[in-house]
Amino acid sequence: MKKEKNDSMDKIISLAKRRGFVFPSSEIYGGFAAVYDFGPYGVELANNIKKEWWKAMTQLRSDVVGLDAAIFMSPKVWEASGHVKGFSDPLTECRKCHGRLRLDTLLEDIGVAADEKMSEEEINQIFDANRDKIKCPTCGAQDFTPGRSFNLLVQSNLGNFTGDWTKEPVYLRGETCQGIYVNYKNVLDSARVRIPFGIAQIGKAFRNEITARQFIFRTREFEQMEMQYFIHPDQTKEVYENWKKIRWQFYLDLGFKEENLKWHQHENLVFYAKEAYDIEYNFPFGFKELEGVHARGNYDLTQHGQASGTNFEYLDPATGEKFIPHIVETSVGVGRTFLAALCEAYREENLNGEERVVLSLPARLAPIKVAIFPLLKNKPELVARAEEIYHALRQKFRCEFDDNGNIGKRYRRQDEIGTPYCVTFDFDSLEDGAVTVRERDSASQERVKIEDLEKYLAPKLG
Ligand code: GAP
Repeated sequence: MKKEKNDSMDKIISLAKRRGFVFPSSEIYGGFAAVYDFGPYGVELANNIKKEWWKAMTQLRSDVVGLDAAIFMSPKVWEASGHVKGFSDPLTECRKCHGRLRLDTLLEDIGVAADEKMSEEEINQIFDANRDKIKCPTCGAQDFTPGRSFNLLVQSNLGNFTGDWTKEPVYLRGETCQGIYVNYKNVLDSARVRIPFGIAQIGKAFRNEITARQFIFRTREFEQMEMQYFIHPDQTKEVYENWKKIRWQFYLDLGFKEENLKWHQHENLVFYAKEAYDIEYNFPFGFKELEGVHARGNYDLTQHGQASGTNFEYLDPATGEKFIPHIVETSVGVGRTFLAALCEAYREENLNGEERVVLSLPARLAPIKVAIFPLLKNKPELVARAEEIYHALRQKFRCEFDDNGNIGKRYRRQDEIGTPYCVTFDFDSLEDGAVTVRERDSASQERVKIEDLEKYLAPKLG
């Protein structure tokens, strides 16, 4: 079973590379660990995921506004947030091959409960009791250094003219939500919002992850889609439960099967958190975190209020009560959603005696919505008319023109990138003004008048 699952991950990685979804970063130089690039179809899929999230979280809600804060922030932000001191994972090093490994993952792999929030002392105790069972995944040795906390913040030399990084560390943001907290008052004062309200943001985050495993599941540069909802403390339970429902439904609306999702409740809450659940997705390597839905109390605004001397108290216009807002956060990675969408959509099947790979992506996520083909490449009258259709349809939908190889081969290629509809202009089209429209999942074909094409496709493509 485990092998089957690994095989399916390998197949998804291979398709992602072969069909231009994901490339290893700087591949011609041997790659750059835990960093990936989205290719021509990958960028479309990632953009569609972001569009769906942005629409659900801002456009369809009158109580959430958007923000796009800068990646660079004052180093004071990361001091106040606790990241400089406490944003770390437990690290050990194999004394033989010098590979660096996450200690909590090594323990998990042998079935011993551990997590990254444990203190250095706690996790080392568990480590010492289990050393004889743990082998280095690279060289098999059993000789490791004691575990130590490794800070995940990535430093830069922005604005550092002394060259001394320890004196003026400037970080690339480790999570996007800090940009939301420090702008809370700007938004409140400028955007006609009243508590309860939320601020949503999509943007890059950077973490010096110790181990790079599982393709784009855990990367050192990634994008987050985060929303912070500001509330009166008495509203926590109701608001939290509501956001849990909304976020669960988001994945069902994306076409994810419910049996591939589950809730995971955090056992070791960070000291300020009131409630923390993750939505886990059934990746080929097991159920793993997709999104966090956390009730963070008033920790974030209190910390930034104290450190910056800003008064974050909210004055309730109805009751006259003053309080520091509490926060319910929803946070998910674009890359993780992307990987889950690929896993959910990937199918191998036999279609009329022929094997095919198909990505059954919902039309809203599909990188290309319609592919347009002339039946034959060397018939100018077919090519010209197919091109006309392509130019007309691409005003409305993301389209692709393809005249390469036989039609069967073109269908296979579009199936693999998840294109819901293929349109072929053939010799009959010259006579009847109609084209063949082929649907991806059923492979069923229909003749549709050229002048009706847009009307025919629009409702199907949502
Ligand atoms: N502001 C809260 C926060 O950042 P997190 O659990 O560290 O919480 C939230 O991250 C989400 O961001 C995760 O559920 C995951 O989807 C994504 N994420 C975190 N680290 C990641 C990484 N190294 N690579 C890809 N995605 C990551």
